[in-house]
Amino acid sequence: MSIIFDEKSKVFSIITRNTEYQIKINEIGVALHTYYGKKVAGQDMSYLYRELDRGFSGNPYELRNKRGVSADTLPQEYSTDGAGDYRVSALIVRLANGSGTADLRYRGHEIISGRENLKGLPYVRVEKDRVDTLKLILEDKTAGLLATLFYQVFEDKDIISRYTVIRNESGDVCSLNKAASACVDFMGKDLDLIHFHGRHAFERQPERKRVGHEVVRISSKRGTSSHHNNPFVILCDRNADEWQGESYGVMLMYSGEHAEEVEKDQAGTIRVVSGISDDHFSWKLGAGEEFVTPEVMLAYTDKGLSELSFLFHRIIRENVCPNEFRDKKRPVLMNNWEGTYFDFDDDKIMEIADSAREAGCEMLVLDDGWFGARNDDHAGLGDWVVNRDKVKKGMDAIADHVESLGMKFGLWFEPEMVNEDSDLFRAHPDWALTDPDRKPVMGRDQLVLDMSRPEVVDYLYESIAAVLNSAKISYVKWDFNRSLANVFSRGLPADRQGEVSHRFVLGSYALMERLRESFPDVMIEGCSGGGGRFDAGIMFYSPQIWCSDNTEAINRLRIQKGTTYGYPVSTIGSHVSASPNHQTGREVPLMTRAIVAMAGTFGYELDPRKLSADEKAMIREQIGTFNRYYDLIQRGKYLRLSDETDEEYYTSWGFVSEDKSEALLNLVVTDVRANPEVMYVRLHCLDPEAEYEVDNCISSSEKVPENDAGEKNRIVGQVFTGAALMNAGYAFDPMFGSYPAVQLHFKKI
Ligand code: DGJ
Repeated sequence: MSIIFDEKSKVFSIITRNTEYQIKINEIGVALHTYYGKKVAGQDMSYLYRELDRGFSGNPYELRNKRGVSADTLPQEYSTDGAGDYRVSALIVRLANGSGTADLRYRGHEIISGRENLKGLPYVRVEKDRVDTLKLILEDKTAGLLATLFYQVFEDKDIISRYTVIRNESGDVCSLNKAASACVDFMGKDLDLIHFHGRHAFERQPERKRVGHEVVRISSKRGTSSHHNNPFVILCDRNADEWQGESYGVMLMYSGEHAEEVEKDQAGTIRVVSGISDDHFSWKLGAGEEFVTPEVMLAYTDKGLSELSFLFHRIIRENVCPNEFRDKKRPVLMNNWEGTYFDFDDDKIMEIADSAREAGCEMLVLDDGWFGARNDDHAGLGDWVVNRDKVKKGMDAIADHVESLGMKFGLWFEPEMVNEDSDLFRAHPDWALTDPDRKPVMGRDQLVLDMSRPEVVDYLYESIAAVLNSAKISYVKWDFNRSLANVFSRGLPADRQGEVSHRFVLGSYALMERLRESFPDVMIEGCSGGGGRFDAGIMFYSPQIWCSDNTEAINRLRIQKGTTYGYPVSTIGSHVSASPNHQTGREVPLMTRAIVAMAGTFGYELDPRKLSADEKAMIREQIGTFNRYYDLIQRGKYLRLSDETDEEYYTSWGFVSEDKSEALLNLVVTDVRANPEVMYVRLHCLDPEAEYEVDNCISSSEKVPENDAGEKNRIVGQVFTGAALMNAGYAFDPMFGSYPAVQLHFKKI
């Protein structure tokens, strides 16, 4: 059992393979968070809390003579507002009598084997794992509120997931003005915060700063998790780097408005609270009703940021993503978006399919523009019926043609959206989220459907299911192309409008779940103008997400690297697009574009009819290479091998199989130089005693390096010990030309 309760000391120890998390119930029943970190051999860690009298930090009534005990300085498992804790709260209420105080005390607990699955929200699935759950039941007798804190312990995976259920036992209606998923307090640590900010076409850029006494709030008010602030934060030692140092990860499994708040208090304790953002949130909780928060995953390691990434990669791949697609080889796709945009008909798509097949692609994805009156981005969203002016022979004819080529067929949808110029909006203007008496904010000339209304979810389910039933469709690209504004539902009364943004997310999840149940073999690729909804919530329904609308390989190096801190390569949708690139105009060699896209789910997004025979042959080879290393790339350990200083010159990354039998080392020179330095890149996670042979080399440069004919052959066949590759590194001779790239495969001999 990974959860131990000591009756005498009232300490809960949650123990995983390498970590320990402690909760202590103090003398008046407050649940204290006393420790999270490396195992501590049975020690009660509550000694870390020193009872020091701090002015203006009040005391609970029962302990009014013990001035060193204050809600304001105690490390809390679930902090509340109104009862003397002035730091960031997890729970803020307004009770029926107008009071804003919540004060939770221990009522009881249960330790169970396995876990309770969440209904309507994503959660960490129990697969082959041994999982135990602690249900810690806290109550506020005066308010009539119960908060049950759930801790799911994935012992072998070093992951604890948490969520909270608030139950109203007061007999009256109350309002939840904030109900976060988790609060964790760290005593005696000086930590850096790393969070992942971005923008459309430049997502998930790490930003690192020392945690100070101000409240830092990483959040989204956009209705979705957003391009701008991902719901994943890292807290780490000030000197932690990729390979050493204590690192904590907090990842919210939620696709809507979120907040991760971090603060250092007067005593130096660092608090992190993660959950639904309270910016637009207030929830009326009727007598006897419950509110369930989203789940959050917590991880700890003392071995640095890469090891932290490995923990999240593994749990997401094995326990979050739908298991139907976990071990199945996913097809290398050709998407027509950047190839044609809206300018296509069925003949053109079939020609594209023919050319894609010649180039070795395994799936053809028809993107935006096949439905309703959708000839540009001003009309048609919401009308999920095939546009027979463009798709004259019908969708089944396209799908049959693609299948006859031995490929799979996929289709684009943007379910949660509607254009004013659509039959759906003309019939149901009240189905869009708009304020009464006010013109709505437009985004890409479209409005957002009110997913809080069951009739909207039903309509979408029926119309999308009809299309999926009409042709052999194996894949759905699920897009979402604007931020929410005017979040007002015509289906809810005035005093429930604060529920709409969360109900919206629940409606989207309900639709995904129903479609997944009806079409379990159809793989959904999430998307939101690229990576605007790239989170572990969506991954519960969709094993891969289009990472960014920026398909330019050199920009992508940074976007993909930032994404890998939290998310596995198997979730990162990545394509080779045309050169010059449509977003930046930059020209990058085809092989470099492919090497970069291989650090993802891999596919192409261009008009294959414009490819020369040589280019098609090269693409066939690239697909062959990717497929050969598919398991290594999708399931191996992903290594970030260059740091910010190196990256002024080159970027390098790699993969090592779990059994250490093979590795893939990749490098792109982003700033070629005259008379340059040798690039020494140290690998990790190899077997130090073993010998590794380079048995394959692909490169954008004919000669690798440039100085000697036949040089490539010299690279293949080189042998190094794992120890040499890890301690001194592989020595890449300089490369020249436009963005040269190289990929080496090492095989243990
Ligand atoms: C945004 C997506 O990210 C693109 O890949 C493409 O599907 C367009 N939408 C289509 O409108």
